Amino acid sequence: MIFRLVTITLLLIGCTEHPASTTCGQTGSLYRQASYPIGVALDMMELNSSAEYQTIATEQFNSITPENIFKAESIHPERGFYNWLETDSLMSYCERTQKRVHGHTLIWHVQLPEWIRSFQGTKADWELHMKEHIQTIMTRYKGKIAGWDVVNEAFNEDGTLRNSIWRQHIGDSYIEKAYRFAREADPNALLFYNDYNLEVSPTKRAAVITYFNNLRLRGVKIDGIGLQMHISIVHPGSSEIASALMDVSANEYKVHISELDISVNPLGKNITATTELLGEQANLMGAILLHYRQLPLKHRYGITFWGVSDRNSWIRSTYNRIDYPLLFDDNYQPKPMYCKAIELL
Ligand code: G3I
Repeated sequence: MIFRLVTITLLLIGCTEHPASTTCGQTGSLYRQASYPIGVALDMMELNSSAEYQTIATEQFNSITPENIFKAESIHPERGFYNWLETDSLMSYCERTQKRVHGHTLIWHVQLPEWIRSFQGTKADWELHMKEHIQTIMTRYKGKIAGWDVVNEAFNEDGTLRNSIWRQHIGDSYIEKAYRFAREADPNALLFYNDYNLEVSPTKRAAVITYFNNLRLRGVKIDGIGLQMHISIVHPGSSEIASALMDVSANEYKVHISELDISVNPLGKNITATTELLGEQANLMGAILLHYRQLPLKHRYGITFWGVSDRNSWIRSTYNRIDYPLLFDDNYQPKPMYCKAIELL
């Protein structure tokens, strides 16, 4: 309770001294002010076609997560064929601009190419496919990709294992095998598990932590957990977020806030981006930064925003709704959420 009061007090002080505004009057750099990496999910088409997009990506972030091009449907579209065109291009950009790369994602049940979805083979065949997929990609970028979401979204909300195509064909052991294959491919890469709602569901979070604690006991390398944090100004509350971050850190995992966006319209109403809504979004941003700063430095893998500007957000197209979930607006201008981040980082 005291922690919550302190947090609220800090935010109120922040609010009175620096009322939310649409610009910060300064052209700061998020990553230059932070004591841990500040990342963004990048879309290659936007990076290559929008000067504003590229300027923000280069000046504000020092960690890059490819939004889609490392996913199986893009990088491994045909059996035995890998599409390195866009991934090599992204790696060149990140090398040129000295940015960390976080690989997303090797084993997921979404965005799979047709040949995987329709593959008919034995358990051994599927295991071989999974091993070849993981190790071909990781080997190409060995030593150049700092961390990987080896497995993404493998748990249901009730804490049971999702019955994904990988589990159906390989069995429950597919997760352990995926991390062992990954460790063989690049022993120095940090290996993460990544999922959504870990910040809102103690049940799901406990199941994930218990599962990977047990894998660790079996000698499987797992360095961190990615909490995607696709949240809104309505839910979860600041204290739930604090509990989730502390819970993961207390189990000795690096904590990656891996896909942060803060919806201001979770119910899909016909809204405009009012000062009040953007102020609420900014205050929640501030609370997240204050909580994240409480973590031991060794666990602060970083905070990654899931997109550069509101116009790039997956939320609008996926849910077909008005929303303003990111740091920059449709004209690539900083929002109060950005100003609060610059103030508190
Ligand atoms: O590449 C095709 C293109 O050829 C086609 O013309 C176009 C129009 O249909 O679609 C393109 O594919 C889209 C793909 O993004 C690449 O842009 C898919 O339709 C679209 O569904 C896909 O959405 C991505 C989504 O994952 C897929 O589930 C989002 O951009 C991406 O932000 C989102 O990211 C996920 C994380 O990886 C995991 N956590 C959840 C998060 C949000 O769903």
